[in-house]
Amino acid sequence: MARFPVRLVGDGLAVPCVDGQERPYISLDGAASTPALPAVAERVAEFLPWYGSIHRASGYKSRVATTAYEDARDDALTFAGKTDASDLAVICRNTTDAINHLAYRLRLSPDDVVVTTVVEHHANFLPWSRYARRRFVECGPEGTFSVEQVCAVLDERPKPRLLAITGASNVTGWLPPLDLLLDEAHQRGIPVLVDAAQLAPHVPLPAEADFLAWSGHKMYAPFGAGVLVGPRDVFCEGEPLLFGGGAVDLVDLDEVAWTDPPEREEAGSPNVVGAVAMATAMRELTAIGWPAIRAHEEELGLQLRAGLAAIPGVRVLGPSLETPTLAVASFLLDEVPHPLVAARLAAEYGIGVRHGCFCAHPYLIRLLGLSSDEQATYRQSVRRGDRRLIPGAVRASAMLSTTPEEVQVFLGAVADIASGRPSPVPFAQDELTGDYWPELDVPGWAAADRILGASCGRG
Ligand SMILES: Cc1ncc(COP(=O)(O)O)c(C=O)c1O
Repeated sequence: MARFPVRLVGDGLAVPCVDGQERPYISLDGAASTPALPAVAERVAEFLPWYGSIHRASGYKSRVATTAYEDARDDALTFAGKTDASDLAVICRNTTDAINHLAYRLRLSPDDVVVTTVVEHHANFLPWSRYARRRFVECGPEGTFSVEQVCAVLDERPKPRLLAITGASNVTGWLPPLDLLLDEAHQRGIPVLVDAAQLAPHVPLPAEADFLAWSGHKMYAPFGAGVLVGPRDVFCEGEPLLFGGGAVDLVDLDEVAWTDPPEREEAGSPNVVGAVAMATAMRELTAIGWPAIRAHEEELGLQLRAGLAAIPGVRVLGPSLETPTLAVASFLLDEVPHPLVAARLAAEYGIGVRHGCFCAHPYLIRLLGLSSDEQATYRQSVRRGDRRLIPGAVRASAMLSTTPEEVQVFLGAVADIASGRPSPVPFAQDELTGDYWPELDVPGWAAADRILGASCGRG
């Protein structure tokens, strides 16, 4: 039985702050990416000596590696609740890759309609525009929509080919009523893709979903693998997205015979280590148990959101506290711009968060209630290469290793900044990235280190 908080690789490392002190790093950025579970790191270390080329070699190590890879595929299906052979798992790079893959593979025509929502991450928003028409479910000021709203959009004509919907928002942590939505879509004969990037590490996946996509790096396996699960039929006909070795049975100068899926979908040498790591994470999460994970994260989520809402001058985006969410909170300070809040949390307190639009521009525009004039102003400046006006918020997101004490330190830091306490050092905003940097030369924060800064402005 796992004890919470669950230890992760790198926990407890100290990071330099602008006062010259080192502080234990507090990562509140799990919604972006998570450190490895120790079991994942151990399994990778154990597997590496046995690593070999898979599917195309006869050596013993290649047999071991091929088995490990195929086991990982089976683990993904089990994790998705898919128990019969009519489904398959395609190992991809990440959720973005998986959804792009599916968008291509559904063989949509420009007149086909895919219903999606304004709550989506760009990964489940942009790929559909390439192959079909999108019809959107709008959200209200709290960033949520009802089952009735979705049904109304599904019922418009022409009938949609797919409902592509997130399992949980990466901005507000909101969990759309998936079971009901799956039921409504299926009653209408419409298949559903669930973008499970935020769901997979926190909540059991909905087995009724026709297609599921998720990423290893958000579920404690940061080794570059993700997965697309869906009915085998979809992948049996037609060309795969990627052309190349491993995806074919026969090739001649003017002929190609594609092999069976899932190999047909995985041209090129696959990420075996990533798949093995992701499978270990899936097994670990299952062993820890969803009720325990949910209880831990619900407690932290409430602490985060209620704690932020209680700080004068702080506005939390998203649904009210009564609505269950993931342990994610996006917020604004009345008097301090979001990139400066994030920079001060990092440089003064050793706290890692994300700021900006979180790759969900349409959602942020709605949550922030931006007028068309406000949108036009920042868009013009971004087109000129100046990202300083990009709107957004600050996001704190907990993970298995987060403690209530860490959340308390974070809330204290936000209260401190919101109270108007000046920073001990001046900060300057970079035009190109929109990020703030402290203007002084201490180890870790020197001018020469700025190039290493991760720009949150892009989305
Ligand atoms: C809801 C959601 N969908 C998709 C993605 C894209 O995931 P990846 O960057 O691993 O492709 C993310 C990443 O933040 C996400 O939060």
